[in-house]
Amino acid sequence: MRPRMTDPNRSLLTLRGLDAGTLTSLLDRTESLLPVVRGVAQLPRTDSGAVVGLLFLENSTRTRCSFETAVHRLGHQPVVLTGQGSSVGKGESLSDTAANIAAMGMQALVVRTPLSGGAALVARVTGVPTINAGDGRHEHPTQGLLDASTLRSHLGSLKGKRILIVGDILNSRVARSNIHALTTLGATVVLVGPPPLVPWVFAECAPQIEVAHDLDAVLETADAIMMLRIQLERSAGKSVASDYRAAFGMTSTRASRLREGVPVLHPGPINRGVELDDEVAADLARCLVLEQVARGVSARMAILERALVPAVSA
Ligand code: NCD
Repeated sequence: MRPRMTDPNRSLLTLRGLDAGTLTSLLDRTESLLPVVRGVAQLPRTDSGAVVGLLFLENSTRTRCSFETAVHRLGHQPVVLTGQGSSVGKGESLSDTAANIAAMGMQALVVRTPLSGGAALVARVTGVPTINAGDGRHEHPTQGLLDASTLRSHLGSLKGKRILIVGDILNSRVARSNIHALTTLGATVVLVGPPPLVPWVFAECAPQIEVAHDLDAVLETADAIMMLRIQLERSAGKSVASDYRAAFGMTSTRASRLREGVPVLHPGPINRGVELDDEVAADLARCLVLEQVARGVSARMAILERALVPAVSA
């Protein structure tokens, strides 16, 4: 099948290269849609007739359900395909799967895949506006956007702020998307973790990126701190070092050393007692994980609007 040509600005495959103006207008729209998510405002009722294909070929709770919610909230229809029960289990490739779903007449596709670069492949093969919902260890742009939204609402501007991202940076698509968004918006990002998971080379990528291997040495410089899960499914070692929590976990003791009002974020799923202690996760004034989830829906609505407006009004 010959792919249709589509405006590349309707897809969201990466946050790399998105300028501050574009990011800011997406964040503004995320903010203005948040009351709809919280149930205190409504969008005008529409039945757009648009159908959005959600291809989730890797495990997901928050991202999948929030995309599905976002599609409903906007008055569109979702069609969800997961790896389990689909022909992916019979060995069908990502590009064949996507081409077949697109041929059913989808106005947009949302793709989660273990294949780094998989979302760009789907956009190329189908010609349909495609949103990357996490592709391997490459990027997770909607997570980056919802994290930036959460941080901006908490800190005001991101300009000049120091954001610590702690954990498995090497294998984390969340970290990569956050690095692009946060540095573009003027923050300094400090990547913290053991040397095998946070190689020095990251510090050479941009002047606003620092690398640290001693969390305690940089903890008190943080304006915000984002904890990440060790991506066992993407690492060769397949186990967390027994002293990981002692060196890099957000324990209650460490949380008490953070400056007043410094928030703790986590994209989920949390490994309690490894990267985040129960007491810290339970402190909802400090730990913004559920705020991130709420903003995940409005951020995805903002991205879907951008993907769908021309198709819906055509
Ligand atoms: C992240 C992911 O899948 O990359 N989770 C998410 O989308 N909320 C992070 C993770 O799995 O650790």
